[in-house]
Amino acid sequence: MSVTTFVFDAYGTLFDVASAARRAASDSPALAGVWPQLAETWRRKQLEYTWLRAITGAHADFAAVTADSLDWAMESQGLRDATLRSRLLALYDALDAYPEVRETLTRLRSSGFRLAILSNGTPAMLERATHAAGIDGLLHDILSVEEVRIYKPHASVYGLVERRTGARPQQVMFVSSNGWDVAGAARFGFRTAWVNRAGLPRDRLPQRPLHEIPDLSHLPRLIS
Ligand code: LAC
Repeated sequence: MSVTTFVFDAYGTLFDVASAARRAASDSPALAGVWPQLAETWRRKQLEYTWLRAITGAHADFAAVTADSLDWAMESQGLRDATLRSRLLALYDALDAYPEVRETLTRLRSSGFRLAILSNGTPAMLERATHAAGIDGLLHDILSVEEVRIYKPHASVYGLVERRTGARPQQVMFVSSNGWDVAGAARFGFRTAWVNRAGLPRDRLPQRPLHEIPDLSHLPRLIS
């Protein structure tokens, strides 16, 4: 079976999650020296909370988890500033897309592939982020874990793709910068491309990525 459908993780894959703290730092002296650390801690806690909520069955949506993890990250940096908190959350809805995203999606779409997002984000968050990045018109489907109310890498999340698009797992190229997400998707039966922008070691998890690429611009050649 050949690939018919590209499915993208959103945060960290299409959108640069560090861009919220980076942009807020430009007009917040308190963030000047600490924004990289804040961004890193915010992201790490956000993912930990998704896994813990999935394991314990205590689901809260990604907007709540993103706010909770920001609160933890700000407190860990000694930052107590309600205006800054609101600004960071607003910027999370308008994250920078990585530079090659729009052109790559345009190329894949014009080659006839169906393009989808499958993300932990809520439908409202994903709608705002894709609109702000100017890529909403390039995507055929935007799938959120809110349909099953459990986070990646639970198999029922990956099952949303066939339910919505009709594509069999072997017809899907799943693309994520998160090694654990790629492992979950490969275990489910998708073909996978790990976007390893930072040159990280491969996660020691049961499934290996089918492809490893430094950015999304390498996707078209994987299926040519
Ligand atoms: C997402 C997170 C995992 O977009 O980045 O699903």
